[in-house]
Amino acid sequence: MPFPMAAPAAAGEELVAAAAAAAPTTTTPPPPKVSPTPTTPPGVPGHPSSPIDPIEPDDSGRGAESYRDGGGGGDDDDDDGYQSDGPSSDATTSISSNIRDYTWENNRRYHKYKEGRYAFPNDEPEQEREDMRHAMVLHLCGGRLHFAPIGENPQKILDVGTGTGIWAIDMGDEYPSAEITGIDLSPIQPSWVPPNVRFVVDDAEAPWIAPPDSLDYVHLRNMAFVIKDWTKLFQQAFVALKPGGWIELQDLKFNYSCDDGTMHPEDYGPLRMADLIHGALEKFGVDTTSAEKNPERAAAAGFVDPRHFVIKLPVGPWARDKTMKTVGLYNRSGIYDGLQGITMGPFTRGLGWSQEEVEVFLTTVRKDLMNARIHSYITWHSLCAQKPLSAAAPPAAGGQ
Ligand SMILES: C[S@@+](CC[C@H](N)C(=O)[O-])C[C@H]1O[C@@H](n2cnc3c(N)ncnc32)[C@H](O)[C@@H]1O
Repeated sequence: MPFPMAAPAAAGEELVAAAAAAAPTTTTPPPPKVSPTPTTPPGVPGHPSSPIDPIEPDDSGRGAESYRDGGGGGDDDDDDGYQSDGPSSDATTSISSNIRDYTWENNRRYHKYKEGRYAFPNDEPEQEREDMRHAMVLHLCGGRLHFAPIGENPQKILDVGTGTGIWAIDMGDEYPSAEITGIDLSPIQPSWVPPNVRFVVDDAEAPWIAPPDSLDYVHLRNMAFVIKDWTKLFQQAFVALKPGGWIELQDLKFNYSCDDGTMHPEDYGPLRMADLIHGALEKFGVDTTSAEKNPERAAAAGFVDPRHFVIKLPVGPWARDKTMKTVGLYNRSGIYDGLQGITMGPFTRGLGWSQEEVEVFLTTVRKDLMNARIHSYITWHSLCAQKPLSAAAPPAAGGQ
């Protein structure tokens, strides 16, 4: 992998200076001055001229415990901390020794709990890729872990689909006051984590165990290819959040585009791949366009004060801007390194391709991705919205 895992700290100062200045590493940054319509926040590349600015090319050449026991783990843990705690939901009643099992398919490792639910692998290469994307987003955002104005002392934070737990761990360090819970189908998180961070194997689409009005902040990142029922997810988050609490979603959208005619959509391999992935995931009931629809869904669930912005992320280091050049390098590497992982499950399970067919197809995609003459980009979507201070949780709308 050509990049260090940690976010390069101070690159791209000229474009992210305002965001970075507003985001000291150990305290809560002040709320970004973002508008309710899709705009880029101050200091982040793209601000302020348009929601999605063109990119100028460079011409110069844990030890988990049960979330469902109400906190603090329990004496009846009999599976290295994963606990079956009664009838609350199918997500816990089925927890057994198989929670730590994995399943293998076409030389990749997948989750076993609720097997088949998530189409992408959870093995080391995929984990490294997720961590690299974390580094990319931090670099893009001037080191900020969030844009929601959650104050300096949030108490309860839920990271839905926490993956390797890297964001939750960073949040635990940044907010010692908070108890951060990361849930995921895969038990791939480290054991050595800050004392205020815990990880739980759980299904985000099962009824949430978090009591109504109990959370300050719900976070989801890169979950567009995951969640099937966004309406229900927003409803559950709304109920579980305290009045005044925030939900935040950040997602990459693989809608390869180009502003200078260097990409020919009809024969650009990554675009064809994205279309095929979308088609395959649709067969599994996943709407991959959720990043665009989520502002509407959040509003329908009752959230207010939406702050939504979209940024173009170059695929490759072709942008003139220093930050975007680095982001482009991360971005392309994340796509390139993940090609097999992101296609194998959807193409074989969803489209009926053989492993060999997938590999042959990917050779073209790799070539196009590395073609420095093609100035393609994808988009990054960030949305946060608030549960109104006046809101009372409706009865039986998902929380328990
Ligand atoms: C693309 S990764 C994102 C990881 C993390 N949010 C990040 O940005 O680093 C998606 C994660 O969602 C998890 N996942 C998939 N379906 C899930 C579900 N129904 N409930 C909880 N987690 C799920 C996967 O296991 C995977 O770790």
